Amino acid sequence: MSLKDELIKDRLPKHVAIIMDGNGRWAKKRGNARVFGHKHGVTAVRETTETAAELGIEYLTLYAFSTENWNRPKTEVDALMSLLVSTISSETGTLMKNNVRLNTIGCKESLPKGVQKKLNDCIEKTSANSGLTLTLALSYSSRWEIIEAFKKVAQDVKDNQLDVDDIDADMVSNYMTTAGIPDPELMIRTSGEYRISNFLLWQLAYSELYFCDILWPDFRRDDLYRALLDFQGRERRFGKTGDQIKK
Ligand code: IPE
Ligand code: IPE
Ligand code: MG
Repeated sequence: MSLKDELIKDRLPKHVAIIMDGNGRWAKKRGNARVFGHKHGVTAVRETTETAAELGIEYLTLYAFSTENWNRPKTEVDALMSLLVSTISSETGTLMKNNVRLNTIGCKESLPKGVQKKLNDCIEKTSANSGLTLTLALSYSSRWEIIEAFKKVAQDVKDNQLDVDDIDADMVSNYMTTAGIPDPELMIRTSGEYRISNFLLWQLAYSELYFCDILWPDFRRDDLYRALLDFQGRERRFGKTGDQIKK
């Protein structure tokens, strides 16, 4: 039986989030520059997106560039930005073919104008697609997002648009950049690092976390199936006892 056949189709997560990590080490192991790893990471992005779309997963969120990644050497940042532009051009067809809608979260204004334009064009072109929503976290960090949300809440209270007594968890979620998207049930991080690195801190409150040693450019269909199978073997208790859940 293949890994895919082992999956219980009606118990798949609606939303999977991934910290795609290990591109630099993948390249270094091959005696190449870090950007070589980023280029090969695109294959893993394509394969993961296609697999998620085929399975009927509704939301896939990929951490592609963090606020902190701006602190990398300029040559690497520039190479990543050009790669983003060329990848969007070359992959829009794949998104259309798989009925995938593109979305982004993060501080879009901090991205180079050319990147913003490519992203906006692709978002527009794929906007009527009704399958998977692929969200790229670009120039994103969770603390940035939470600060932005605080500012908007404060402003709305000041403008009498929001009553302090109406602030609850659902309302806070709606002030996040992921408003309208359910929280991820599963978060995957590749490359053997066991940390969250400022990703979706609010949204991951009750996510199942899955860490694997595979470096991102090597991540393939079977690796996603393995993560999903592991997820399906977990008991999600949300504070209750195991016995309560089994009822
Ligand atoms: C992930 O791979 C991609 C980005 C953060 C843009 P890294 O570039 O972090 O690769 P490692 O972790 O240094 O191997
Ligand atoms: C997290 O990876 C950000 C992305 C995958 C885009 P990093 O490689 O930047 O994370 P740290 O710095 O090792 O925690
Ligand atoms: Mg890394």
